[in-house]
Amino acid sequence: MRVFFKTYGCQMNIRDSEIMKGLLVRTGHEIVGELPKADVVVINTCAVRAKSENKAYSLIGRLKKRGFRVGVTGCVAEIASRSLKNLGADFVIGTRALTSIVDAVEGKIDLDLSDRLSEIEKIVDMFDNTSRMSQLVTVRTSKHHAWVNIISGCNKFCTYCIVPYTRGREVSRPMKNVIKEVKALSKSGYNQITFLGQNVDSYGKDMNDGTTLAELFRQVYDVENIKRFWFLTSYPSDITDELIEVVAERPRISRNFHLPAQSGSNTILKRMNRQYTREEYLELIQKIRSKVDGASIGGDIIVGFPGETDEDFEETLSLVKEVKYVRLNIAPYSPRRGTVASKLYNDDVSKAVKKKRMAVLSKIQHAIQLEMNESFVGKTVDIIVEGKTGGKSFGRTIDNRMIFLEGDIPEGECVKVKLNHATAGPIYGELVRKVVSEVAQ
Ligand code: SAH
Ligand code: SF4
Ligand code: F3S
Repeated sequence: MRVFFKTYGCQMNIRDSEIMKGLLVRTGHEIVGELPKADVVVINTCAVRAKSENKAYSLIGRLKKRGFRVGVTGCVAEIASRSLKNLGADFVIGTRALTSIVDAVEGKIDLDLSDRLSEIEKIVDMFDNTSRMSQLVTVRTSKHHAWVNIISGCNKFCTYCIVPYTRGREVSRPMKNVIKEVKALSKSGYNQITFLGQNVDSYGKDMNDGTTLAELFRQVYDVENIKRFWFLTSYPSDITDELIEVVAERPRISRNFHLPAQSGSNTILKRMNRQYTREEYLELIQKIRSKVDGASIGGDIIVGFPGETDEDFEETLSLVKEVKYVRLNIAPYSPRRGTVASKLYNDDVSKAVKKKRMAVLSKIQHAIQLEMNESFVGKTVDIIVEGKTGGKSFGRTIDNRMIFLEGDIPEGECVKVKLNHATAGPIYGELVRKVVSEVAQ
C-alpha cells in the first residue's frame, strides 16, 4: 500500500514516524510524499496543548471527507482513542505499539494501545547488528543527521504536562544497542547524531548498571566520522557535574544545553512541580557557562500558568533577560485533561493576558537574540550544512545558531563561514572554505 505520513509534535514523533515508515517499507509498502497518491494516511499526533491536539482532529475530518483511509498514531492516539474512532479514524495505534503499524495498515487490526516497546527494542537491536539492515528498518528524514532515541517516557509529572500519560514511564535503551546504532550510522555516512529523550539526562536511571548520558558520550565519542553529537531535552536538576565535564572536554559535543525553565517565579515553579528553584536554575547556568567554553542555553517558557500574577510574570522576564537564551519556545498554558494542574487549578489567566504576556516576552527575546547575533558579525564559524531554502544553504554552529549562506552547498558538508549580517533569527554569511579537519566547531 501507498502510505502518506503527517507528523506533528516533537523530535520523538519525527523519530517514531521514521521507525514506522521503515517497518512498512520492509514489508513491501511504499511511503509517498504526496497526499493524493496515498491509499492510507497516518497522522502521528501531538497532545502537548489543545491547539496541537485539535490539528489532528480537524485533519482527520478533512481527510475522511475526501474518502481517505486514515490511521492515527502518537500522543493523541494514546489518550483519546475513543474520540478518534468516533471521528472516523480507521485505526488507532498507541505510542508504545509502533510495531503494530504494519498490521494496522494492512487492515488486520484497528486498535492497539498495548505496551510493546520491548518489541521495538528487540527490532532495533536486531537491525543494529548490520548497517544494511539498520538502513532498511528506518526511513530517516536526513542522510547526514540522525535522531537516536536513548530513553523514552518521563517520570517527572510536571503538573501541566500530558507527556507522562502519553509516553509512560522512563525506559532507557541498553547502551550497547545505542552504540551499535551510532556505529552503523557512521558507516552509512551520517556525521551528526542527536540523542533524544523527553528527559535525556535521566538516561540510565532505570538500569542501575552505570549507564548515564556522560558515559554514553565517553563511549561513542571516538566513533569514526561523527562530527557532532547533540542531546535533547535536558531537565535542569538532572544535569550532573559529570555530564558538564564530559561536554566541556569534548569539542565535538554540542555546546547547546536545552534547559526549559518554564517560569522564573518560584511560586509558579512549585505549582508546576518543577524540581528546582529560580536560584538553582540560574546557578546551574552559571556553572555550565563557567565550565563549557562557548556554551549556549536554549529554553521553554509557559506563560499564563494558573495563578500567574503580573509579579510572577515579571520574574520570568527578568530570568529571560539574565539567561540570554539562544532560542526560546514560548507557549500559552493549555489545560490538559487528566493532569494534576487541570484538576487542581483554574485556568484563570485570561486568553488576552496570555497573549499580551507572550507578545511582551517574544519582543524581549527577539531583542536579546538580535543583540547576541550582532556580536557574531565579523567572526568566522564552522557549520555543517543541513539543507537549502530560497537559493541559500543553511546549517548550525555547534552552539545551535542558525547560519545562512549563499550558494548550493551539499548537505552534510562542514564549512567555514564568515558572518556579515545578523537578524534576530538567522545570521548570514559567506563561504570561506570547506573544513578538512575532522573537528568542526
Ligand atoms: N521534557 C521537556 C519538555 C517536553 S514538552 C521539559 O521538561 O521541559 C515541550 C514543551 O511544551 C514544554 O517545555 C512546555 O514548555 C510545553 N508544554 C507542555 N505542556 C504544556 C501545557 N499544558 N500548556 C502549554 N505548554 C505546555
Ligand atoms: Fe513533561 Fe515535565 Fe516530563 Fe518535560 S519533564 S516531559 S515537561 S512532565
Ligand atoms: Fe507532543 Fe507527544 Fe512530543 S505530546 S511534544 S508529540 S511527546
